[in-house]
Amino acid sequence: MNHWTPDDIPEQTGRTALITGGNSGIGLETARVLTTHGARVILAGRSRARLDQAADAVRAAAPKAQVGTLVLDLSDLASVRDAATRVAETETIDLLINNAGVMNLPRRQSTRDGFEMTVGTNHLGHFAFNALLWPAVRRAAAPRVVTVSAIAARWPMGRLDDLMSEKNYRGMTAYAKSKRANVVYTLELARRTANSALQALVVHPGAAMTNLQQHGSGLLTHIITPISERLLMGSAEGAAWPSLYAATSPHVRSGQFIGPAGRDQTSGTPEPAKLPKGADDPDQGRRLWAASEQLTGITFDLDAGAPA
Ligand SMILES: NC(=O)c1ccc[n+]([C@@H]2O[C@H](COP(=O)([O-])OP(=O)(O)OC[C@H]3O[C@@H](n4cnc5c(N)ncnc54)[C@H](OP(=O)(O)O)[C@@H]3O)[C@@H](O)[C@H]2O)c1
Repeated sequence: MNHWTPDDIPEQTGRTALITGGNSGIGLETARVLTTHGARVILAGRSRARLDQAADAVRAAAPKAQVGTLVLDLSDLASVRDAATRVAETETIDLLINNAGVMNLPRRQSTRDGFEMTVGTNHLGHFAFNALLWPAVRRAAAPRVVTVSAIAARWPMGRLDDLMSEKNYRGMTAYAKSKRANVVYTLELARRTANSALQALVVHPGAAMTNLQQHGSGLLTHIITPISERLLMGSAEGAAWPSLYAATSPHVRSGQFIGPAGRDQTSGTPEPAKLPKGADDPDQGRRLWAASEQLTGITFDLDAGAPA
């Protein structure tokens, strides 16, 4: 049986981790733990003030920590392009952690480029960001890309047809689609990089009270759900374990879905988890990749940045 805890993380000195949504919740906790094991971290997020505050919090926990920040709004391709280009030109990214996310937006909203906001942020923003900063990942000797999905990826309503929820919008359906897209994207990336040193993994963190649960309205959201969540949900600390394990364990394989092993899979030691049904269908992977390139207008060239 796997008894992994963050104490088992190997020394990370000399490695750089870029964490989207690194200023809050699971991303901030992932950053904090990685720095205590010697990694340099770059926290990426959309608010300069929240990034600075988070960087101070990480330094307070690990005074010698090397912490950088990157302003990145995943719901705006111009911002994604600007942030990714700067990273691609100057950095070597050993661990790319696609962690940022929004959930359960009460009405259909659009990103600056006209995509449904949840899928636009959680999947398309990350797809574009990964594609554009790829040379920085290619510079690393043994890079890992870890994408934070959710158990919601398994929900049948998260089918990837009507990706932009044009026919019908429900907040949690859009979230399930975006989290399924995180899994399908990762498995396709793992297939496309199978003959390289890169490992692509996807995780689900279980359940933790963070800012993610801020949206919604009414009795259910403001009274019943918060009470039941407080009773049932874990902390961001525990919810970061699957990301930390996927990013650093020598025992994982590219293409794995990692999640907590505990009761109801909401907390506990990370281990390989059951994939959402059909998510490993290569045809679905190819179709999502092509649709993501077509929607964003960005070609994801996996050879970008290869030595001449
Ligand atoms: N908490 C859970 O129970 C749970 C369960 C399953 C999966 N997850 C997944 O875990 C990941 C982290 O969530 P969390 O629980 O830690 O929630 P959180 O505390 O709300 O963190 C989400 C992060 O994403 C950032 N973000 C949102 N929209 C963005 C955008 N347009 N551009 C750049 N960054 C953006 C947020 O930035 P701001 O601070 O600026 O808003 C924040 O830093 C998400 O992908 C979520 O789907 C969480």
